[in-house]
Amino acid sequence: MRVVPKQQPGKSKQDYQTPPEFLEAVKARLQIKDFGWDLAASDENCVSPYGYYDEATNSLTAADWQSKTPETLWQWLNPPYADIKPWVKKCAEESLKGAHIACLVPASTGANWWKEHVTNDAYVLFLNGRITFVGATAPYPKDCALLLYTPFIRKGSDIWTWKPSTQISSTISKLSSLPASTSTSTACPTSL
Ligand SMILES: C[S@@+](CC[C@H](N)C(=O)[O-])C[C@H]1O[C@@H](n2cnc3c(N)ncnc32)[C@H](O)[C@@H]1O
Repeated sequence: MRVVPKQQPGKSKQDYQTPPEFLEAVKARLQIKDFGWDLAASDENCVSPYGYYDEATNSLTAADWQSKTPETLWQWLNPPYADIKPWVKKCAEESLKGAHIACLVPASTGANWWKEHVTNDAYVLFLNGRITFVGATAPYPKDCALLLYTPFIRKGSDIWTWKPSTQISSTISKLSSLPASTSTSTACPTSL
């Protein structure tokens, strides 16, 4: 049997924020207004209005990832890509306990972490349409996948052409051009 070499921790920037147009597309697909929690964030880049874990409060050792808000079951996760394995392992464990997690990762189907914690544990949406992270000057150079970890759908996949509708794109560009005081974009509460 072929053994996939161990992945090397990356040295690239680890705190790129997911673009709002992709988050809006995910929320529309999941039929939610907001994510209940951002599981990997900082004060500068959290994408949930309810709260987040950061390096200090450490998501990976947090007791549970189940929803802390009555408004939505779904938690958001765009982990640091240098070492994805502990994140997808925790997703699989927490979803068995009842958590619903939407997790954005590179579509590294040959990686050990994918084989061990994605293939049989998540519903995978392979993304058609490259993602340009906030602050990046070019699209991320790899295909990505949205992993949906839930207590009841443990495996399966589809291809999702997620491109935002013109209406969503123009609304987002109008919102981001508003002065900060009138903008309705996500406000970051304090971390746990
Ligand atoms: C790729 S960025 C995600 C940015 C944004 N929250 C998003 O979802 O697009 C990953 C973030 O996770 C944070 N992080 C790193 N280790 C963490 C940990 N153990 N627990 C929680 N957050 C962590 C980093 O500081 C960084 O801000």
